[in-house]
Amino acid sequence: MEILQSYLQQNKERFLEELLALLRIPSVSADPAYKEAVFKTAEYVAQKLKDAGADAVELCPTAGYPIVYGEKIISPNLPTVLVYGHYDVQPPDPLDLWHSPPFEPVVKNEKIYARGSCDDKGQMYMHLKAFEAMMQNNALPCNVKFMIEGEEEVGSNNLGIFVKNNREKLLCDIVLISDTSMIANDVPSITAGLRGLSYMEVEVTGPNRDLHSGVYGGAVANPINILCEMIASLHDENKHITIPGFYDAVRELSAAERQSLNQKPFDEAKYKTDLGIAETWGEKGYTTTERVGIRPTLDVNGIWGGYTGEGAKTVLPSKAKAKISMRLVPNQDSAHISKLFEEHFKKIAPAAVKVKVTAHHGGEAVVTPTDSLAFQAAAEAFETTFGKKPIPTYDGGSIPIVALFKKELHTDTILMGFGLDSDAIHSPNEHYGLFNFYKGIETIPYFYQYYTAKMR
Ligand code: BES
Ligand code: MN
Ligand code: MN
Repeated sequence: MEILQSYLQQNKERFLEELLALLRIPSVSADPAYKEAVFKTAEYVAQKLKDAGADAVELCPTAGYPIVYGEKIISPNLPTVLVYGHYDVQPPDPLDLWHSPPFEPVVKNEKIYARGSCDDKGQMYMHLKAFEAMMQNNALPCNVKFMIEGEEEVGSNNLGIFVKNNREKLLCDIVLISDTSMIANDVPSITAGLRGLSYMEVEVTGPNRDLHSGVYGGAVANPINILCEMIASLHDENKHITIPGFYDAVRELSAAERQSLNQKPFDEAKYKTDLGIAETWGEKGYTTTERVGIRPTLDVNGIWGGYTGEGAKTVLPSKAKAKISMRLVPNQDSAHISKLFEEHFKKIAPAAVKVKVTAHHGGEAVVTPTDSLAFQAAAEAFETTFGKKPIPTYDGGSIPIVALFKKELHTDTILMGFGLDSDAIHSPNEHYGLFNFYKGIETIPYFYQYYTAKMR
């Protein structure tokens, strides 16, 4: 593997330049204003995949943005790794909080600042470069398929359809993804679990039009006041969620499992200073690691209504709205939880208002077995390049397609993330460490090598 090491050293500047070019294309999937750029990004990724040595590279059209596919099949007798990643990014706003423009990447203090630098362009691109390095040095030990989508940040609906319709094409022994985080640059970890998601939107309507808040205030239900009361009632004094049946499918972990989970190094004081908070907050009886990793949650993501402009306008609004997400854990079914939410939310509404509830995208939680050959291979790869055994962790975020890979392709996924929680993904000033980018490129080929050896 020394030959790969020197190849990385010799090509590191170019790898970075190519990533910066990718980051300059604003592939925001949520906003139709960026449509052209999203398509252009797919083409750029396809070209780079071809350049890296992949065969059969194509842009698979969908009802939305195309899926970039490519492969290198060297022998039917060898295992096949399916690499998944996404080339779309979150919207960059609020723009005024960025220290440099989100689509004009800059390298500062050994970090790449740009929207998508960590989530997921930077992490996805490591796989293309690791593949290139193996191809150029005759070191690819097994078959590989690449599937890079452009709609992860909007729920991967079209990818779900694509996977169902292309089982044969996507057949593989293991899925490999870098789209999660590790504990710290000197504390490597591998993600063994992700939470699921139910995402709801609610609308509370009071009077048939906005009213003067003096003329009518006190006599007519204010939908914003009502919505706030309803939302507040969704947690009890122990920060337990009050929706009937919400916890029914949740498995309680044994004392031993919880103890092992809490072995994960966690610096509460640093966590608080990092975020500028005086206290952590959450479900009674659980640690922060547990609250994020193994417990379901409910959070308001946005709430609006009435007058929010400059100065003061005295108005009793007709409507109030909110977007509410629930993070789910294994065994909870996203569609069922959405239904429980809807029923409960309608039930707690006073007769003075009307309530409308709609469900957005969702997805199921996943756990990766840590005793599989693939997980062991990943752990050994990290140990080789970091000099330390990685710790299995349970991340709070969601990648809904992972559960679908299991369901449709019957394949487990290795979540080999190289980001850090502090990389500000989905936030202003998102960044990705050069250390992490290069370490990822260095680590990935070891996974291929160890995994292939174990599968023989
Ligand atoms: N890469 C993230 C998920 C993630 C981040 C997992 C950090 C673990 C650690 C992914 O791009 C993402 O943002 N997913 C969304 C869900 C999607 C349906 C919009 C999420 O978790 O909110
Ligand atoms: Mn991502
Ligand atoms: Mn994301």
